[in-house]
Amino acid sequence: MNSRLISKYNVSGPRYTSYPTVPYWDNKKFSLKRYNETLTTSFKETNSSEGISIYIHLPFCESLCTFCGCTKRITKNHSVEIPYLQSVIKEWEMYCDLLDERPVIQELHLGGGTPTFFSAENLNLLLDGIFRISTKAEDAELSFEGHPNNTTKEHLNLFSELGFKRVSYGVQDYNKKVQLSIHRLQPFENVKKVTEEAREAGFTSVGHDIIYGLPFQTKEDVIYTIERTKELMPDRIAFYSYAHVPWIKGNGQRGYKDEDLPTAEEKIAQYEMGKKMLLAAGYFEIGMDHFALITDSLNDAIEYNTLHRNFMGYTNSKTQVMIGLGVSAISDSWYGFAQNVKGVEEYQNLIKNNISPIYRGHILTNQDLVIRKHILNLMCNFKTTWFKQDDFFDELPQVMLALREMQSDGLVELDTNFLRITQRGKAFVRNVCMAFDLRLQKNKPEMKVFSMTV
Ligand SMILES: C[S@@+](CC[C@H](N)C(=O)[O-])C[C@H]1O[C@@H](n2cnc3c(N)ncnc32)[C@H](O)[C@@H]1O
Ligand code: SF4
Repeated sequence: MNSRLISKYNVSGPRYTSYPTVPYWDNKKFSLKRYNETLTTSFKETNSSEGISIYIHLPFCESLCTFCGCTKRITKNHSVEIPYLQSVIKEWEMYCDLLDERPVIQELHLGGGTPTFFSAENLNLLLDGIFRISTKAEDAELSFEGHPNNTTKEHLNLFSELGFKRVSYGVQDYNKKVQLSIHRLQPFENVKKVTEEAREAGFTSVGHDIIYGLPFQTKEDVIYTIERTKELMPDRIAFYSYAHVPWIKGNGQRGYKDEDLPTAEEKIAQYEMGKKMLLAAGYFEIGMDHFALITDSLNDAIEYNTLHRNFMGYTNSKTQVMIGLGVSAISDSWYGFAQNVKGVEEYQNLIKNNISPIYRGHILTNQDLVIRKHILNLMCNFKTTWFKQDDFFDELPQVMLALREMQSDGLVELDTNFLRITQRGKAFVRNVCMAFDLRLQKNKPEMKVFSMTV
């Protein structure tokens, strides 16, 4: 990749798991009452046809990985499990009271933190509490994030019996030097064991998360990690760019200096090498950072045009309503977003007192809805089309100016109402979305808010 392009487009920018992105939510115009109205409307529109998605945030981890940007609480004390799960079940009951019709769950994802911090027995209680008052769709997509160091056969057998078919394991990198620098020692044998056990238990989609751009990581380290990954041929690979956001309060990114990170040029070389190796190994590129074997359901999503992106990342079922349960979880009614408080004790206290844990959110304007559609098209399909009647059209000259510049750099093909991102441009899909992001354009942040796009 040409270094002029890298330095031109390596800017701080969102990863677009939502539009508007969280720092641009208009909290002043948000109220719980308005959010609940959008939720009940959207739910009525879609519950019986497409069902809803649930994301459950399980925040505990036994040990801190110092690269991690997720909301987590580090503890070795497992007595935290039951009170937390009881609160999550109660939060779900509060939602079901509001919705006044039995929800049909089309998609459920357990994320974290570390879901496998919890015992299989306790997770069974959680899922029993969720499904007792809702209907599991026949073809429901149930998935969880497992830590290779503590996922047990009991976890896998329980999840399999409940109909889970998909697990993603955090791998990150197989080199000891990198693992030491991120405080996450995890031998290949552990990943091999849990990958094989998941397959034996009946999981049809085993995913591995790999990261490039980690401290002290080199291109050779990425090559080694992918060579080892190929020995196990996971069905799906998330090949993430390391997001360096040490300014976010309490995220724990520490123990290495900015100089220990690869430069933008080294990072993009790692990405290009990784991508080349994965394509050569038979994986197909899906969206911004995912790769999947032809047999994986993520590929069906491309074929049937159901690939979707939300706070869970890429998913293969488009549901209009996504309810987030647990600390820091974000809900999406399609017409609005809402986020729960981040502190475990605060969350549990609010729920105990029958108070919603939502503390901020955003109600989408008509223009937000149009832009959101374009950003989803770009992030999922690398192309989008617009029409004169779109609300967005008034601001198009401004957007076109930025896009023409990208066209002259060979990143996009552009027509009057159509845009396609080129092979070269795929590494810069976040930059293309930024051209459409009118909220960001009108109010550029003064301080660093987002990670770098490379
Ligand atoms: C919640 S964690 C995974 C589950 C489990 N806790 C584990 O560590 O195996 C989800 C994934 O987010 C990714 N992730 C976390 N922090 C990141 C960062 N700063 N940049 C890029 N990816 C990150 C990692 O690949 C990680 O496996
Ligand atoms: S990577 Fe996983 S185990 Fe490590 S701190 Fe983050 S959520 Fe916890």
